Amino acid sequence: MKYVIKNGSVVFSDGVRPCDILVEDGKIAKIGENLPAEGEVIDAEGLHIFPGLIDMHVHLREPGYEGKEDIESGSKAAVAGGFTQVCCMPNTNPVNDNAVVTTYIKYRAEKVNLCKVNPIGSITKGEKGEELAEIGKMAAAGAVAISDDGRSVMDSKIMRLAMEYANDFNIKCLCHCEDENLVDGGVVNEGLNSTITGLKGSLRAAEDIMIAREIALSESLDIPVHICHVSTYSGVEIIRSAKARGVKVTAESCPHYFWLTDDVIRDFDTNTKVNPPIREEKDRQAIIAGLMDGTLDCIVTDHAPHGKKDKQVEYSLAAFGISGIETSFSLSYTKLVKEGEMTLSQLAERMSAAPARILGLEGGKIEEGGVADLTIADLAAKYVIDGEKFVSKGKNTPFNGTEVYGRVAYTIVDGDIKYSAK
Ligand code: DOR
Ligand code: ZN
Repeated sequence: MKYVIKNGSVVFSDGVRPCDILVEDGKIAKIGENLPAEGEVIDAEGLHIFPGLIDMHVHLREPGYEGKEDIESGSKAAVAGGFTQVCCMPNTNPVNDNAVVTTYIKYRAEKVNLCKVNPIGSITKGEKGEELAEIGKMAAAGAVAISDDGRSVMDSKIMRLAMEYANDFNIKCLCHCEDENLVDGGVVNEGLNSTITGLKGSLRAAEDIMIAREIALSESLDIPVHICHVSTYSGVEIIRSAKARGVKVTAESCPHYFWLTDDVIRDFDTNTKVNPPIREEKDRQAIIAGLMDGTLDCIVTDHAPHGKKDKQVEYSLAAFGISGIETSFSLSYTKLVKEGEMTLSQLAERMSAAPARILGLEGGKIEEGGVADLTIADLAAKYVIDGEKFVSKGKNTPFNGTEVYGRVAYTIVDGDIKYSAK
């Protein structure tokens, strides 16, 4: 199988250059100008070619919550969003806390055969925070990391053991950071808007305390750690200073944290309910600054699809989460590159190279001999987000009516076109 992608602008780590790409047997066989047309030709005139986007934090809901999403619908949504590879969190039912569930997820994803799906095992059995899960067995079955995402591991000794075990098996802990006692049932950011709406607030400190604890453990043990979905300006600052003294900490944030402020909760739209909560303008600015200077290594979606019945209830009862995998690329490109100071190469670093590096996954760059995982996008294409048109079962987005730029034209995995806008 051989084809050439012609006339596109290729996003390399050191800049964007017009190049043709010869794809052969799932690999990038050659990159160069005016390559002869061998086999089929994909005309990428006016399009940009990125290394295949990687989302290291999604919820695919299978097994157990297939009404919200399943591996097939989530994979379809992923490739429609330009993602060639995703890593799925273990808060399924049963929880992915053992090798059987890990193996099942991999098996299902291979049957579906769209994007690459890497399971993340849980840290503790049932994500209950009490007893370590079968970390070694899950790693052997293909878990690329461990996380109790959706919850924090409140017991610091268990977290210490988890980091040590994970490190022994050469995988990382991805830490959902919130002190559950301090959150105490809070559903939005604690501040002016929680007071105005009467919704129970959650302090930044609930998140920051756990970010600081994970960093303290990482520093004391000299074991790498990754902080999930950072939402606070103060959390960004804690990570920045830890990095400056050499702590092996990496971190992520999501489009909703650099697009929105908690003003959006004032009309009680439950699609704005997410954990951690959307915060204030100084947080939003700090997330952008963190993504610019690399304090925040990568952009993830925390794609958290929910059904109508989970969201069409009063705010305090609604499920936390945003269906984000189909809007992440456009939202990130529009806010950070088109309206901001980020270069396309930096965007590719945050959405592809960094997650690949953090988790040791293949892909992340466009190079001869490398895997042909590619995302081709039309950056000039403008559209208005409409959650009802999502491929995902989860239509829960706070971005309905938002005008964005950057439409995914093709998603190519191992050389196969898995999504085409046409
Ligand atoms: O908003 C969220 N939704 N945050 C999480 O940490 C979990 C996720 C979910 O599973 O729905
Ligand atoms: Zn999550």
